[in-house]
Parts: sequence; structure tokens; C-alpha cells
Amino acid sequence: MTTLITGGAGYVGSHTVVALHVAGRDVVVLDDFSNARRDVIDGLRSLTAPDLIVVEGDAAHRPTIERLCDEHGVDSIVHFAACKSVPESFADPLRYYRNNVASTLSLVEVAAERGIGQFVFSSSAVVYGRPEILPVTEETPAAPQSPYGATKLMCEHILTDAAAASSMSVVILRYFNPVGAHSSGRIGERPLAVAQSLVPVVMGVAEGVADRLRVFGQDYDTRDGTAIRDFVHVADLADGHVAAIDADLGEQTSRIFNLGTGVGTTVFELIAAAAKVTGRPIPYEIADRRPGDIEASWADCSRAHAELGWRAERDLAQMLTDHWHFAQRCRHLGA
Ligand SMILES: NC(=O)c1ccc[n+]([C@@H]2O[C@H](COP(=O)([O-])OP(=O)(O)OC[C@H]3O[C@@H](n4cnc5c(N)ncnc54)[C@H](O)[C@@H]3O)[C@@H](O)[C@H]2O)c1
Repeated sequence: MTTLITGGAGYVGSHTVVALHVAGRDVVVLDDFSNARRDVIDGLRSLTAPDLIVVEGDAAHRPTIERLCDEHGVDSIVHFAACKSVPESFADPLRYYRNNVASTLSLVEVAAERGIGQFVFSSSAVVYGRPEILPVTEETPAAPQSPYGATKLMCEHILTDAAAASSMSVVILRYFNPVGAHSSGRIGERPLAVAQSLVPVVMGVAEGVADRLRVFGQDYDTRDGTAIRDFVHVADLADGHVAAIDADLGEQTSRIFNLGTGVGTTVFELIAAAAKVTGRPIPYEIADRRPGDIEASWADCSRAHAELGWRAERDLAQMLTDHWHFAQRCRHLGA
């Protein structure tokens, strides 16, 4: 019962490492630290085991994957490692195609050759593009609006086809908007790149790191004119991976699941909730919409509930409280 977790030093990956460890699995982390700080490992080891195996390397490098699978008797793979910024993917699309697709290809080739039974893949709600009907179900047509979204959909196709031709089960998890941190405050979202996701930017304003938030678009056809997203606690997402790795797909070789809360929150509602949790004002200014931005998206998660027994348990206030707790702890430690 050893799971190889690529990108396990990253935001969602690190929380999943902890959740799988708690569920009784041995885990091996592979990360190139292109978007993770090395001291994440201290937090991870404090929440799992002092001898947690963490290997620095590229998830596209077949000899490394082969060695790890053979040395540790890997029976499942959870693949997080990827570049994930929509704006950056417009500026540097080839890096996105190379990193996201090549890593998936290498991993699935080794998995198929070695008879590895379970493969769980981090996909994203960005594959739906601009959904016309809400909430978004797994049957909503995929129409990604960015190179990043296109890479995720390509990887889904590669994995689905590979599963159909082998004994491997593939579970594709389409996350909505991960927020929050581990309740201990020891791990959370600390990218090396400048934060671009909404909540870390909002928290940066609350902390005084930035003087105001830029709200991209106030002319959407929504209840207050700002975009709507489905925020989901990262610990709930991590639990979704535990459910996915144990999933019995029956006759099916692959299956797609939405992971969200099913609740849509506008940017203004998020700002108000963050001001309440932090007790700080969140000044903002309105800016133009960005390419690739989507008006509204929230999930129908009934399939994950029916088939995986999973549902998000934590609400927005909990997400923001845990995110703030982690940010304050980092600040206190001077990290
Ligand atoms: N955070 C989100 O908003 C979100 C939403 C939907 C889907 N996802 C997907 O979830 C996954 C994890 O996202 P995250 O927010 O934790 O991102 P992250 O950047 O925090 O984590 C990704 C990790 O992968 C590592 N990495 C990147 N390329 C690598 C490579 N070639 N080899 C080894 N390691 C590599 C990075 O160093 C980082 O630690 C990604 O696949 C992302 O596309 C994220």
C-alpha cells in the first residue's frame, strides 16, 4: 500500500500526503520544488512521520519514476505535479504543455508497464471553460479557455485511453477553488511564485503586504457584478483523494468527479467574509476582466457523494479561518 505522490510538497499535494498517511498508506513524495519551499517538508514530517520519503526530481523523468516504483513497491499514483496559472499559461504555453503533459505521459507509461492499479489525477474546473448551465456536472461539455485548461483536458484524455487499454483504474478529480490550510497551521498555501489565486491575495491585503485588492470585472451578469466561484477547503479535497484511491469503479476503467461544495460565492461576498474572519479591512479597486476569466462556476458534486461517499464538510468561514491562521503563523515565524 505505497502511493507515489507527485507534487506532494505543493499546496493540495501536501494536505493529501497527510490525509493518506492518516488513512494508513505509505507515501513517497516526488517534487522538483519548482513551486514549493523546502521547509514544507518539516511541516509534513511533523504531521506524518520523521522519515517520510521525499525525493527531489522531475515527474517527467522516467528513470526516476521507475526507480521509485520498484524500490518502494508503489501500487498507486496520485499526480499533482503541474504548472497551474491561467495567466502564465498564456504567456508561456509551451512550458505548460511540456511540464503538464510530459509528466503525465511518463507516469502513466510506467504505471501501465508495472501493472500499477490506481491512478488519481488532479484536474480542474477550468476544463469546463464558460459553462452555460449551472451547477456544472461532469457531463457539462469541456471547453477550456486557456492553455493551462487545455493541458488538463489532454492529460485526462491520455489517462482515460490508457486505462481502457490496461488493468489500471483512473480517477480524475476536477477541483473547483481550493482554499484553507491544515487545522494545525503547519502546512498551507505558500507558492514560490507571486500569489495569483484570490484568497492568498485577499489575505495579503489583510496582512498589509499589499495595499489593495484588484477585483477583475464588476460587470458580470451575477448578483453583485463580480465573478462567482465554488471555494472548497483543501482538507476536504485531500479527503477526496483518500476516497478516490479506494474507489471501486466496477466495470468502468476511468471516472471523472467534481470536487467542490456546490455553493457559489461572489468576489464581493468573499471579501466581506475575509474582513469578518481577519477583523481587517480589505480595500479594493475594480480592474478590467482578464483573458480566460470565467463569469460563474460552481459544482454539482452529487456523483462524488453517490459513488465515492465524499462530500465537502467545511464552510467558507472555516476555509478563511484556517487560511488566516496559517498565514499568521508563517508571519510569526518569519517564514
Ligand atoms: N490550486 C488550485 O487552484 C487548483 C485548482 C484545480 C486544479 N489544481 C491542480 O492541482 C494540482 C496541485 O495544485 P497546487 O495548487 O497544489 O499547486 P502547487 O504549485 O502548490 O503544487 C504543485 C507541485 O508540483 C511541483 N511540480 C511542478 N512540476 C513538477 C515536475 N515536473 N516534477 C515534480 N514536481 C513538479 C511543484 O514544485 C509544486 O510543489 C495541479 O495539478 C493543479 O493543476 C489546482
